[in-house]
Amino acid sequence: MCGIVGYIGKKEKKEILLDGLQDLEYRGYDSAGIAVVEGKSLQNFKAVGKLTNLREKTRNYHSEGFGAAIGHTRWATHGKPTELNAHPHMGQYSYVVHNGIIENYQALKKELAAEGVTFLSQTDTETIVHLFEQYHQASNDPFGAFEQTVKRLEGAYAILLVSEADPDAIFFAKNGSPMLIGFDGEEIYFASSDTPIIGKAKEVYYLEDGDYGYVKEGKVHLFNQSGAKSYSTQPLPTDKALAQKDGYRFFMEKEIYEQSRVMGETMMGRVLEDGIRFEELNDHLFEGINAIKICACGTSYHSALASSYLFERIAKIRCDVEIASEFRHKEPLLTNDTLFITISQSGETADTLEALKMAKRAGLRSLSICNVDNSSIVRESDATLLTRAGIEKGVASTKAFATQTMVLWMLSLWIAQQRNTIETDRLREELDAMLHTPKALIVTDALHDRIHRLSKRYLHGHGFFFIGRDLFFPLALEGALKLKEISYLHAEGYPAGEMKHGPIALADSELFTIALMPASLLYDKVKSNVEELSARDATILAISPRPFDLADDFIQTQYDSHPMLEFFEMMVVTQLLALEISIRLGNDVDMPRNLAKSVTVE
Ligand code: F6R
Repeated sequence: MCGIVGYIGKKEKKEILLDGLQDLEYRGYDSAGIAVVEGKSLQNFKAVGKLTNLREKTRNYHSEGFGAAIGHTRWATHGKPTELNAHPHMGQYSYVVHNGIIENYQALKKELAAEGVTFLSQTDTETIVHLFEQYHQASNDPFGAFEQTVKRLEGAYAILLVSEADPDAIFFAKNGSPMLIGFDGEEIYFASSDTPIIGKAKEVYYLEDGDYGYVKEGKVHLFNQSGAKSYSTQPLPTDKALAQKDGYRFFMEKEIYEQSRVMGETMMGRVLEDGIRFEELNDHLFEGINAIKICACGTSYHSALASSYLFERIAKIRCDVEIASEFRHKEPLLTNDTLFITISQSGETADTLEALKMAKRAGLRSLSICNVDNSSIVRESDATLLTRAGIEKGVASTKAFATQTMVLWMLSLWIAQQRNTIETDRLREELDAMLHTPKALIVTDALHDRIHRLSKRYLHGHGFFFIGRDLFFPLALEGALKLKEISYLHAEGYPAGEMKHGPIALADSELFTIALMPASLLYDKVKSNVEELSARDATILAISPRPFDLADDFIQTQYDSHPMLEFFEMMVVTQLLALEISIRLGNDVDMPRNLAKSVTVE
């Protein structure tokens, strides 16, 4: 997830871009850049790291008078966070910024390279500017060339392009990634969200998927695949703080809602019709490997635990999971036929990093699943799969967990392909389920409202047990962790079948049991475990697609045919439950007491 800002008009452009990018820094901050075109002069500045570095670099640059300007703050998906990979990307006389992923960029790159184009960066984005210039050189028609370019792009994008070929214009296109146009008379702004233009523009038009066009002489020329298109603007919201959260009360809430969309980004270019492709992995990574060991902490550990069921079941490979802080001191026996996987949202967790270093010293090959490119864990690993969740601001992890679990599910299929352990029909079923995941993650008003209403009954008591079996046991652990982190109520995740071996002694009406009862995996087994608790008068909140008479409260889920779809749908329910309980208790949802987003101490 990256942030884009654009402006065309007479005001000082550098400050407009830098201020705007500052407001979008929450979307990514591994590098930033701007390009300004004034008449025949094209200026471009880029800096790695936070925006202050770009501010420093542009300290002596000012841009008065009419001109067009574009800026970008990056969260790496293709290519390392270096200056060369930072946007804007340059052709011979044009610059482009892009948010999203161009899925067919490799084919386009090949085609352009065959025509003699050289690439400076490793990004998918650079293909856009070269494609534009190729078409422009052939036609001498800047907008025609942009239109032809957009038609060649597959995937998700929000694009702004400026060029000496038409210095008084900004070309734009949107498909799948957010972008809006702000208006203040003839001054025209672009941005990935409202925040950067609040206080500057008065009216806004939120571009729709398939929209493209150009702005020139204070006018927007808008098109979609049916041709020229009219549009109407609306007043811009005025509260910046609210706008940064896109109107949600907390970042955590926003991130829960975002999961459906970011999952599309996680899968993009990786989930194909006939299998999984990871450009980042070569077959050698897996040569001679007979087992997997995963190390992680907290929520990432729960994702690891869930994936161990998938690795053994789908890829037929032994998989052990360990909490990194335990692993480090247990003098583990490591053999180099084991692939060592670390999972970390931040890539900076000290225990996970140290566990990785230990495994490397023992000669193991390593793979990290991470959300932050160029983080310490990524740099230390032989290979990395980025989760592409975008920055997660809420301390309680939500979309990071969802995307980690998705990457691990994809990896289990990728390994199954390598090891020939999966039948074609089963592979198709899994791929089909993956493609349905974004739907399973949609938060409907009815669901949120229901959880909001029933949350008032769960503010007291002497504790919560989240219970589930198989894949739903790690989800129970994660549900309990979410609740305790932000509500400060005691909660435990437990394997449903294990309750009768001790914890059932706690059962009474003040013990709240959150029962994860998927229809597609061990339903009858979990049901009898829940019946045992109900018989001891525990208060039961059942989450299931199948109605359950003994439940005191019931949340009916929609999916009932694939365990992973049930997993993701129930994950959202547990996240919302924790959120609503925390809000009712008046807690600071985004910054719970005693916790930090990145734990860089042992
Ligand atoms: C809980 C949470 C933590 C982290 C843990 C590891 O919501 O976020 O439990 O999962 O501190 O952090 P990462 O994934 O950055 O290594």
